[in-house]
Amino acid sequence: MHKFFLVCASAIGLGIVTEGHAQSVERGFSAMEQEDFATAYRALRSAAEQGDARAGALLTDIFGVGPYARLQPTAPFQPATTPRTAPAVRGAIMAPVVIRRPPVRPFPQPSSPVALTDDLFAPVDLALAEIGRDLFFDPILSGNKDVSCATCHHPNLGSGDGVSLGLGTGAKGLGDARTPTGHLAADERIPRNAPALWNLGSAAVRVLFHDGRVEFDPAKPDALLTPQGPLDYMSFDSLVAAQAMFPVLSHAEMAGRPGENEIASAVADERVHGDDGAWALLAARVDALEGYSRRFADWRGQDTPVRMDEIGNAIGAFIAHEFRANDTAFDRYLREEQALSPEAGEGMRLFFGKARCAECHSGPLLSDQSFHAMGEPPIGPGKERDADGYTRDIGRAAVTLDRSDSYAFRTPMLRNVVHNGPWGHAGAFSDLRAFVIHHMDPVAGLERYSPQAVLPQLASAVPDYGALSNRMQVGAVKDAAARTMERYAMPALSEGEMDMLMTFLAALSDPTSLQGRMGVPDTLPSGLQPDR
Ligand code: HEC
Ligand code: HEC
Repeated sequence: MHKFFLVCASAIGLGIVTEGHAQSVERGFSAMEQEDFATAYRALRSAAEQGDARAGALLTDIFGVGPYARLQPTAPFQPATTPRTAPAVRGAIMAPVVIRRPPVRPFPQPSSPVALTDDLFAPVDLALAEIGRDLFFDPILSGNKDVSCATCHHPNLGSGDGVSLGLGTGAKGLGDARTPTGHLAADERIPRNAPALWNLGSAAVRVLFHDGRVEFDPAKPDALLTPQGPLDYMSFDSLVAAQAMFPVLSHAEMAGRPGENEIASAVADERVHGDDGAWALLAARVDALEGYSRRFADWRGQDTPVRMDEIGNAIGAFIAHEFRANDTAFDRYLREEQALSPEAGEGMRLFFGKARCAECHSGPLLSDQSFHAMGEPPIGPGKERDADGYTRDIGRAAVTLDRSDSYAFRTPMLRNVVHNGPWGHAGAFSDLRAFVIHHMDPVAGLERYSPQAVLPQLASAVPDYGALSNRMQVGAVKDAAARTMERYAMPALSEGEMDMLMTFLAALSDPTSLQGRMGVPDTLPSGLQPDR
């Protein structure tokens, strides 16, 4: 009913578009009805490019993309008059955010291979992406000015951090050479693996984080879904732009501990919104730097104070540009530009056939963007503790509060996957083949797991493999995986077949994206040093 209403509301909206563009929009809308999203996207984009603001708005609403969002007048930044309560910051990482958009049907998920075509990416504003690059590398966005987005999502480390579970503020260095600088609390390993950021700028991406707590298509009735939702005074170009609001609020990742700096203290006092909130304080830091305020002013053609949503949009544009990876041997094969090697071709047939990988790794992103319990060994500090003090991470269930989602995590998109180790939501595997073998038979795999996580040194009060000695905990992970396998059981493969499957995974690499486009900046407007 709710959905139906919104679709009608959009259709009524279509009545008011100007002639000419209207036809494109109409075509786009009927393509949507047929679930031909690529055509819908092209038609709406062409109308938006002719200046049709309504098409721009639809493009943004339906596909969650687009500088077209800017064709609509954006309300000037007005700190809320009544203080808003910040969404609860759960665990060590970020609070949930829901972007208000009309619910749409999910992308069709054929189990046959589909290329991730250029059509599925909105054009990136390169001038904005350049500002975003500096912000992405600049520790100025962290409370203690000692960690940047790039510390955990580095171009030289496959847009991750190269370790199973990383260290945020209070440490220095990159990858497995990262070391605490003294005051890191003992249990402050980041509880989940830093995911790669490949292709997050694609219009096809609907859900972010291992547990999907940042979502493009909010079908769940959630208080945050109301029109008075907490971020309605901001204006984001994309999902990934909105996401950038959250790492800066995490004590362990970027904000620091209460008392260490004004950002951390604001977060601890639940001051996030408003003009004394953490976001305004961070925006003011950026605005005070000429190298940012002048460039933002030039870019928007107006000299107004830098806003936090602009910072998000700039970072989002950089991520979309820098980490786009759709020119792989696999995509070139699908675009009929180049043959796959016979081994990779055989691996592809296994992936989409006998091995059943594409039951979940499907569609243009090689992900159904859904959640499955795959029985990955629980390691590290977890997101929460159980009554006995054992660590655990129940995954999607902590977002939906639905027990049937226990230990389920989002299906990762697999482009550049061989460069993204360690693998899995907690990085329990540093050997990809071992991961896939476990993945295909997780119930038995949990019995034979041999610890192989890559962990920067930390005198941790929580034993990194502690949960594995908790029979209840391991039993619960195993039960959840067994339920998944009732539906998705995968057959045993011969060594030769495994070789071919692994060759196919390697054919999902995009050399241009791995080499980097804008790369690491030489200097930063803050004068701080970028991680290299
Ligand atoms: C201390 C390490 C750390 C820092 C710093 C950090 N991240 Fe992350 N990032 C992570 C981890 C860990 C996750 C996964 C968290 C989860 O799923 O619960 C993540 C998830 C993400 C995702 C979601 C990816 C996906 O596939 O769903 C995006 C996008 C992202 N980070 C961007 C950023 C940006 C932008 C910044 C800087 C403002 C940043 N990160 C700073 C560790 C970090
Ligand atoms: C039932 C759905 C499902 C099936 C079938 C499936 N996967 Fe997965 N895959 C997932 C999920 C969910 C994850 C994330 C698990 C986690 O981190 O807890 C994942 C993770 C992965 C990863 C790790 C990616 C990363 O960046 O860490 C690889 C590689 C992978 N799968 C390959 C495969 C292959 C190869 C097959 C076929 C043999 C396959 N998957 C079958 C759902 C599935």
